[in-house]
Amino acid sequence: MSSGYNEADISAGARHVHRALASLQEELEAVDYYNQRAEQSDDDSLKAILIHNRNEEVEHAVMLFEWIRRAMPVFDEVMKIYLFTNQPITEIEGQLAGKSKNPGTLGIGSMK
Ligand SMILES: [Fe+2]
Repeated sequence: MSSGYNEADISAGARHVHRALASLQEELEAVDYYNQRAEQSDDDSLKAILIHNRNEEVEHAVMLFEWIRRAMPVFDEVMKIYLFTNQPITEIEGQLAGKSKNPGTLGIGSMK
C-alpha cells in the first residue's frame, strides 16, 4: 500500500487518506516487530525498552485510526458497531445482516 498511488489524478482528500493508511500500516508493522523482539529478548532491561517502544507505536497507530475515523465516515460507522462491545465479534455482523434490508451488508452507509 505504501508504495504509492494507484491513480494519477486522485483528489487531495484521497492523498491524505492514503498517507494516513500507509502510516498506519507502518506503525502496525513496528508494533509487530517490537512485540516479537521483546518476546525473544532474555535481557530484562532491553525487553523493557522494546515493550515501551512497542506501546508507543500502539499509541501512534491509534492516533492514525482516529484521524482515519474522522476522515472516512464508513470507519466511524463500522467502529461504532464493532468496537468496545463484549459481544462475540463474529456474531455482530450476523445480527446486523438480519436487520438489514440488504443482506450481505452491514446496512450502513456507502463505502466512500
Ligand atoms: Fe511510530
